Amino acid sequence: MEQAAAPLLRMTGIGKSFPGVKALAGVDLTVARGEVHALLGENGAGKSTLLKILAGALQPDAGTIELAGRPIRLASPLDAQRQGIVTIYQEFNLVPSQSIAENVFIGREPTRLGLIDWSELGRRTRAITRTVGLDVDPFRLVAELSVAEQQMVEIAKALSMDARLVVMDEPTSALSEAEVARLFQIVRDLKARGISVIFVTHRLDEVMQLCDRMTVLRDGQLAGAGPVAATSVEGIIRLMVGREIERLFQHRRRRVPGGEALRVEGLTRARDARDPHATPLEDVTLAVCRGEILGLAGLVGAGRTELARAIFGADPTAAGRILVDGREVQIRSPVDAIRHGIGLVPEDRKQQALFLALAVRDNIAVAALDRLVGRFGLVDAAREAELVETYRRKLAIKMASPTQEVANLSGGNQQKVVLARWLALEPKVLIVDEPTRGIDVAAKADVHQLLYDLADAGIAVIAISSELPEVLTISDRILTMRQGRITGEVSAGEATEERLMQLMALGELRAA
Ligand SMILES: Nc1ncnc2c1ncn2[C@@H]1O[C@H](COP(=O)(O)OP(=O)(O)OP(=O)(O)O)[C@@H](O)[C@H]1O
Ligand SMILES: [Mg+2]
Repeated sequence: MEQAAAPLLRMTGIGKSFPGVKALAGVDLTVARGEVHALLGENGAGKSTLLKILAGALQPDAGTIELAGRPIRLASPLDAQRQGIVTIYQEFNLVPSQSIAENVFIGREPTRLGLIDWSELGRRTRAITRTVGLDVDPFRLVAELSVAEQQMVEIAKALSMDARLVVMDEPTSALSEAEVARLFQIVRDLKARGISVIFVTHRLDEVMQLCDRMTVLRDGQLAGAGPVAATSVEGIIRLMVGREIERLFQHRRRRVPGGEALRVEGLTRARDARDPHATPLEDVTLAVCRGEILGLAGLVGAGRTELARAIFGADPTAAGRILVDGREVQIRSPVDAIRHGIGLVPEDRKQQALFLALAVRDNIAVAALDRLVGRFGLVDAAREAELVETYRRKLAIKMASPTQEVANLSGGNQQKVVLARWLALEPKVLIVDEPTRGIDVAAKADVHQLLYDLADAGIAVIAISSELPEVLTISDRILTMRQGRITGEVSAGEATEERLMQLMALGELRAA
């Protein structure tokens, strides 16, 4: 019998160890019916691990789970699904080579006479995706969708499953502001229907806006739990990091920049039928100096990532010149770019950046391999170890050992490994695309400081970020983009969120 008075979910004394890591110890999590519950903590605190246990994907070493007052065992993801627990993972689980419809109804396809009823499948999929505001052909391949659209497919899938508890692990980290607003509406609709939601995020303003109660983890242990209304962003941070953080986001102390490190003139990228999501670039001209941090602001689809990839030689360009240290260079591939001292930390770490099956050590050292090769063409192991240790300390990367597989690091720590790899290369020009996505508040301040250190060491930094406060904090100068063009330029002193928004949305030709 279900007990009406019991909370929907009660996890008690949950423990989980991996070789060399105690990921969770004695953790409790209680979620009421129709409640939006924030699960918070720094990178590596154990959030995803706890949710994987709840999803039946991992087995705990200790603890019990009750659903509506009844003890349950979640031996497999199917068990969890049968109990009405639906999880949307931090790293998506869709099959890119299959259609939206197949992904939503995987294993539950409607049949007729023993065969999949494709027209019914299409109809049902369309009905569900429309509820999340995704109006696309249900038979489009997931691989052709943008990250935000894939996220919506994940949510559509959850809604099609009669969920009582929907678990979202960092759902907003890859979404634009408009998409976040839509997601919030979906979460509120779920709540209104009595469905509970567990919501993981590093954006604490989202917690204040959306969540009823919260549970905070620190180093795998329970740091605190309670109603959100009774706390503040500062209070949450204190629980997360266990100490007071004064002046979380420090502005850069401005320096006079040096000579021009990179100049891009008339860069143009044609529309590409094979890559329909890419924004074409039109006549982009910019320059960045040694010791300068140039911020690139724009809405999703403005062409910031395309610009970064074009400079890095990752995508072909139709016209334009690139000059490094005043000399024109030919960049036809990332190898050319790296040879000329240009590095790119890409936004999508899983697809573009990490060798997941390799050790942390190899992922950091791979780009700098040239410098680590000693006599006889062998990698100098001591130098490699030193390099890895340097960046582990600088970025506070949480790992069991340098030989741990990157796939086993927490999401935020994977992001730090990507950063470390490019820093180890000591580039002249470093382009960072959403460098703090998925990174917790305290570590975010570390990443900012690191960018400042790089600039102070004479590196020219181009930083792309969708969070305007971040662009404003870290940049010496800001360019705005819209529809593949530069629409404005503002110095750090005169930049405000309103001014940037205006330039991003409407544009204004730059006074040359
Ligand atoms: N399969 C695994 N093998 C070894 N260690 C693991 C494994 N999965 C997780 N860990 C470790 O457990 C700890 C908790 O990781 P978890 O992914 O739960 O963190 P998180 O709170 O979700 O962090 P983030 O905010 O970065 O996503 C980390 O130290 C991580 O490296
Ligand atoms: Mg996680």
